[in-house]
Amino acid sequence: MSRTFSRPVRAEPVEALSFSSAPAERKDSPSTGSGRTGLADSKYGPRHVAIIMDGNGRWAKKRHLPRAIGHKRGVEAVREVVRAARTMGLEALTLYAFSTENWRRPEDEIGALMGLLKSFILSDLDEFAANDVRLKIIGDYKAFAPDIVELVEHALGRCAGNSGTTLAVALNYGSQAEIAQAAAKAAAKGPITPQTIEAELDTADLPPLDLLIRTSGEVRLSNFLLWQAAYAEMWFTEVLWPDFTPAHLQQALEAFAQRERRYGGR
Ligand code: FPP
Repeated sequence: MSRTFSRPVRAEPVEALSFSSAPAERKDSPSTGSGRTGLADSKYGPRHVAIIMDGNGRWAKKRHLPRAIGHKRGVEAVREVVRAARTMGLEALTLYAFSTENWRRPEDEIGALMGLLKSFILSDLDEFAANDVRLKIIGDYKAFAPDIVELVEHALGRCAGNSGTTLAVALNYGSQAEIAQAAAKAAAKGPITPQTIEAELDTADLPPLDLLIRTSGEVRLSNFLLWQAAYAEMWFTEVLWPDFTPAHLQQALEAFAQRERRYGGR
């Protein structure tokens, strides 16, 4: 069942946009392994970071390139940030890849995003599997074209036994619909309380959201993790998503370490 309107879109062949992935790191690699070596080891380190990856279009526009190239470079940033999240010891990284509102984009752009999603899974799945990355989808990915649904489910199955960093990808995700559905499920089971609603959210099995990052200078949540962000720290940067690197993630973690979290208390 689709949460909002959606239309079948053919994933664009991405030969023209294709990229190669570095060889998969092995679980037993002494240099990286799945050990937690980064800032997140400290008692101030966030367990769960989410990112609104914004600015692919502007990155491309500045260079007089098609928007699809901005998205392609965005995927390359995703790859590096996922690797960094793992080595920094994050328990969960949630990425806003496709919102329920993104269906309003032109069909060719949606097709390019779908093609990139497919090629990303195909090229990076071995690396996730080898590095104990647990893959999770939030949102109604089943509204996507059957070949994408099949590929996503293959990837989920392949990483199902993993217990390292969780990479949660938001696909056809909208937070208001998520909350409404969680409330309906909670009501069907018994009393509606914040706890019973929270237990039905797509993120129920993830640690509480600690830090929410948005790139490209926009300062809004855009229907992403509205419930989960209740006590999250926010970090906004002017950097456009394709230019975002692990050093920026480190910068955000350092800013997080300086924040005093009081959760409404004193
Ligand atoms: C916003 O850029 C970004 C998106 C629409 C989604 C992010 C998608 C990717 C990084 C690529 C696909 C991801 C995966 C995980 C395969 P924008 O187009 O809104 O930028 P603009 O605001 O500058 O126009």
